[in-house]
Amino acid sequence: MLLSGRGSNLAAMIGARDSASLPLDICSAISNRNTAKGLEIARAAGIPTVFVDPASYPDRQSYDQELGRQIQESQPDLIVLAGFMRILGPELVNQYRGHIINLHPSLLPKYTGLDTYNRALSAGDTHYGASIHFVTPELDAGTLIGQVTLPIEANDTAEGMANRLQPIEHLLLLASLELFSLHTVRLIDDMLNIDGIAHEKPLHMAADGHFALTGSQPWGQPESQDKAR
Ligand code: GAR
Repeated sequence: MLLSGRGSNLAAMIGARDSASLPLDICSAISNRNTAKGLEIARAAGIPTVFVDPASYPDRQSYDQELGRQIQESQPDLIVLAGFMRILGPELVNQYRGHIINLHPSLLPKYTGLDTYNRALSAGDTHYGASIHFVTPELDAGTLIGQVTLPIEANDTAEGMANRLQPIEHLLLLASLELFSLHTVRLIDDMLNIDGIAHEKPLHMAADGHFALTGSQPWGQPESQDKAR
């Protein structure tokens, strides 16, 4: 897990690990910020932590080499970026292509980068959400794996939107980890491939907090009338 801040997604992963709701082994928490609260959360949960100080490396390439070395130490099956606020260079990303995923607080491809809530508000969007995608060298532009969509409310604020989304982002991340643990998930020809089947569109998290692989009701949608018949 790579993080730069609060670490609430790491805490959600630790919760899932400890309750055995997911077969997770969180092998390390790596950060570019020594003061990241997520590192404290990791330490308290007995997860090895690593701080790779950007100030100690002359350029991105040498920084990424050290990051890659640290990642390699723990031999992860999957590298999770949750709030890791640093762009990874192409060499590192391509080395782990298909094995690095990122959580982003927008309905990608809308609003890559920062300030996603205000940009959705300024655009007059009616919905917003979060995405999980494979990491590729282009910022927030890798193939989408899954999304969750929420309505933007009247007189909404970025803070209100973030407060509503963040607990649901945790569910989206856990649903993605569940997907990787129960299925064979690959990035093939830049397309999401699950158990040998290519998916042209991202999965949508269903109301039960799992991915709707077989047409269950997406998050936030009213129950279908058909179901009552
Ligand atoms: C999450 O809201 C995630 O969507 C966002 O950082 C937060 C991390 O929270 N990621 C990005 O903005 C990436 N561009 P956390 O530190 O509490 O897990």
